[in-house]
Amino acid sequence: MPDRLTTTAGAPIADNQNSLTAGPRGPVLLQDWQLLEKLAHQNRERIPERVVHAKGWGAYGTLTITGDISRYTRAKVLQPGTKTDLILRFSTVAGELGAADAERDVRGFAIKFYTPEGNWDLVGNNTPVFFVRDPLKFPDFIHTQKRHPQTHLRSPTAMWDFWSLSPESLHQVTILMSDRGLPVAPMFMNGYGSHTYGLWNEAGERFWVKFHFKTLQGHRHHTNAESVGVIGRSRESYQEALFGSIARGDFPRWKMQVQIMPELEAEKTPYNPFDLTKVWPHKDYPPIDIGVLELNRNPENYFAETEQLAFSPSNFVPGIGASPDRMLQARIFSYADAHRYRLGTHYEALPVNRPRCPVHHYHKDGAMRFFRNDTGNPDAYYEPNSMGGPAQDPGVAEPPLRLSGDAARWDHREGNDDFSQPRALFLLFDAGQRQRLFSNIADAMGGVPDHIIERQCRLFDQVHPEYGAGVRAAVAARQAPRQAAE
Ligand code: NDP
Ligand code: HEM
Repeated sequence: MPDRLTTTAGAPIADNQNSLTAGPRGPVLLQDWQLLEKLAHQNRERIPERVVHAKGWGAYGTLTITGDISRYTRAKVLQPGTKTDLILRFSTVAGELGAADAERDVRGFAIKFYTPEGNWDLVGNNTPVFFVRDPLKFPDFIHTQKRHPQTHLRSPTAMWDFWSLSPESLHQVTILMSDRGLPVAPMFMNGYGSHTYGLWNEAGERFWVKFHFKTLQGHRHHTNAESVGVIGRSRESYQEALFGSIARGDFPRWKMQVQIMPELEAEKTPYNPFDLTKVWPHKDYPPIDIGVLELNRNPENYFAETEQLAFSPSNFVPGIGASPDRMLQARIFSYADAHRYRLGTHYEALPVNRPRCPVHHYHKDGAMRFFRNDTGNPDAYYEPNSMGGPAQDPGVAEPPLRLSGDAARWDHREGNDDFSQPRALFLLFDAGQRQRLFSNIADAMGGVPDHIIERQCRLFDQVHPEYGAGVRAAVAARQAPRQAAE
């Protein structure tokens, strides 16, 4: 026998097929509470989608630490032999909740580690760098990726106008337009913490760190032409691949690596190690293998466990902290603010976001206050108190960070080399990869005015003369048949 159907108040329902009406041909009665409840709930089934990274795919898993970096950090989650539960949400950036999965875009790679010292969120991408280095430019950049206010169409002109006026975007644009800009499925791409973060050890010494997750499935990408066929067959190719793989017991895995820099070395590197448009070259800071991340369980409810999932770069644990990367500071504000709007005040008490360790705070009421944060004494609802309520622990304090400098709006482009690192990447590409890079860029430039294309090509010239020439040739090859037909 199936369970008995009830209202949300638990009362059994006798008829879920027919509304309560005045006679067989008459109107519905206002007292049909069951009908009102169904309609009212339907009206509240949507919440605001994420302003960016709206389309996503989530899965649970574990991180197992096999290496030993205990001399750099006291974080329990990173100690040798530790196994920590986690949930990971992959995403695309620009598309809406219903966007097709196989679109060329940066992919989000956001991980929530449920550690015994609280949730640690590492909210990264599948790229080690980003398009802008000053957070003041983030909303402008995102506007160029989203829809035009009048046409409601995506605008290649806006994208290339902005990029061609922002040379710091060259590195990320090159990655996006390379083979790796269109992975076949989440399992076939790397993840990067991207920012420089801080680590500190028991002795209070600080180190700077970059986190990397290298796919153990190998890299697999679609060409632009292939993606047209994929999207024609299914707009949900990522969800199908990830969910299906985990359901079959074929668990995707990533090797976790760190690059470590002693605190004071940051003053001596030729590039700013806190600049999000730069990597730390491997030869200077070799990656150290520290563990394996595995995804092995599908969420049971997409909305509850993936849509209501809330990551924030402000979620640190003792032994892991921020760095002077100014993009990171802005993100530390932005995410929790977004969650309070998108999900509500007590979003961190939702099951998927709830820490798997005791939580004791003095925040009080508000919508959906359904949880207890029992302080052990109902009189201990403020702090400090003499009622034995939860108290701070100076033992987890982060070591002080020395800062200096005159407060001003410093020109972040002055004296900044935006070309060497994209050049190093371009030089890694073989002839085929370069041709596909040129071709992908030309595809993405359809309809863009010539003066913007030329301004962008002059930036490519400064990366490598072959880069600018290759893109010009690919653009001309697309324009020639059109011009002949006109
Ligand atoms: P290395 O030769 O030591 O490393 C090259 C890196 O490039 C590898 O991590 C490789 O990833 C990655 N890579 C290869 N193809 C692509 C692609 N199409 N898009 C993005 N990454 C790719 O060189 P360096 O450390 O000196 O770096 C050279 C350039 O490589 C950098 O300027 C940067 O553009 C890129 N890169 C560097 C990273 C770093 O942390 N140093 C990280 C990622 C990219 P894999 O090992 O998975 O093949
Ligand atoms: C999502 C802001 C840069 C990765 C979001 C969201 C906001 C935001 C508001 C939606 C959050 C939500 O509703 O849950 C910003 C700002 C940035 C910035 C202000 C820069 C100043 C970055 C960078 C990365 C990144 C540099 C990666 C290195 C992500 C990811 C998500 C996301 C992966 C989706 C998280 C999820 O799966 O829920 N961002 N972002 N963002 N952002 Fe950023």
